[in-house]
Amino acid sequence: MTSSSLEQIDLLDPELYRGGWPHALYADLRRSGPVLWHPKVYVPAFDVDVAFWAVIGHPEVREVDRDWQTFAATDGPAVPVWPEDRRGQALSAMDPPAHARLRRLISAGFTPRMVGRLEEQIRERTDRILDAAAAKGTVDFVADVAHPLPMDIIGDIIGIPEADRHEVFGIVDTMQRSYDPKEPVTREQANAAEADLFRYAGSLSEAKRARPTDDVWSILANGDLTLMELDLFFLTLTFAGSETSRNAITDGLIVLLDHPGQLDALRRDPALLPGATDEILRWSSPVLAFGRTVTRDAELGGVQLSAGDRLAMFYPSANRDERVFADPFRFDIRRTPNPHVTFGGGGPHYCLGAHLAKTEVQVMIEKVIQRFGTIEIIGEPSRISNGPVNTVGVNVTSLPVRLA
Ligand code: HEM
Repeated sequence: MTSSSLEQIDLLDPELYRGGWPHALYADLRRSGPVLWHPKVYVPAFDVDVAFWAVIGHPEVREVDRDWQTFAATDGPAVPVWPEDRRGQALSAMDPPAHARLRRLISAGFTPRMVGRLEEQIRERTDRILDAAAAKGTVDFVADVAHPLPMDIIGDIIGIPEADRHEVFGIVDTMQRSYDPKEPVTREQANAAEADLFRYAGSLSEAKRARPTDDVWSILANGDLTLMELDLFFLTLTFAGSETSRNAITDGLIVLLDHPGQLDALRRDPALLPGATDEILRWSSPVLAFGRTVTRDAELGGVQLSAGDRLAMFYPSANRDERVFADPFRFDIRRTPNPHVTFGGGGPHYCLGAHLAKTEVQVMIEKVIQRFGTIEIIGEPSRISNGPVNTVGVNVTSLPVRLA
């Protein structure tokens, strides 16, 4: 059985996402079923066509994420398949047992114990960021507050010297912008930026081999990874570590200001913070989609899939699935249970940075609302939108805010 409801819609069109997730459309599509066939569309940034199953229901996302034998990650995490030389070469483009080898190697840097140690660092950095914001009064909440925290923390974890961070994350920013057809970055400039990033990763590897320190890149550079594996690891960590938490923090602020009663409750009772953080993560759901390839004929959500089919999980849609969340369009910091799939549906690829990201969002939201009695959004947010190319889909790039 296939649905015709996606025949007029291109779920990979960046314009669909420019104003945030198209929740009304997703809700409408969910009425046709949790797994819908998406006819072939052209993806300019990859110069390929792709047709795929859109998995938009919550139980189905969990099923796909957990059953790695039927739904393989090797062809890459984007909706279209990755170029051949990259397949099977990155953590998010590998299946067990190769995946387990890489994941074990890096997991040492991301255990709850390590993140617990980092929490103090996150608190200190947050205070410094908010001191500077308070001195300014009117800020770009993204550039001045939401972006510096995750960028510096992932920089600390990887072991990128402070003096190099401006350059490294400037390259990441150029690459992110290049995926948005409305941004003035050409494919040649994007390719050059990627080459610069890989060159930097290579020089960092040399430095960490010569003088290993207590950071993730010292572990990776001194392991037995291929050059391509190292390059893609660097790309994954600098992208994943800097853009997702920034979106959650910014969208979290916006949604709290839209719900002043809940903001007040949160200011009065900090015990509500962990639940509020989960609800912010469900609400903002900063990753759009991850792709998989079907390895054997299977049934999912009432439709028949064939070996070789491409498939993509849409997390923001799953997080509003009315079969799982009571009143899913109500923002509720007391929602319980809250089984959001913001970090994935479980399984071998479950977000490596989940605990870290949650801590960043919680600490920043806590400190912003405790410190500033007046928080006023004084302009529209701007976003870059790259649809399916980068799994994140949308990045908020600025939000003018007055803090007092
Ligand atoms: C709010 C912030 C974040 C969100 C919403 C998020 C979301 C996700 C999602 C949905 C996946 C795929 C899960 C799956 O396929 O089962 C993922 C994977 C991953 N995330 Fe995150 N992430 C966030 C922050 C971070 C941070 C801070 C890091 C820092 C390193 C990170 C590193 C990774 C890595 C390396 C993977 C691939 C893991 C694998 O394939 O084994 N993420 N993330």
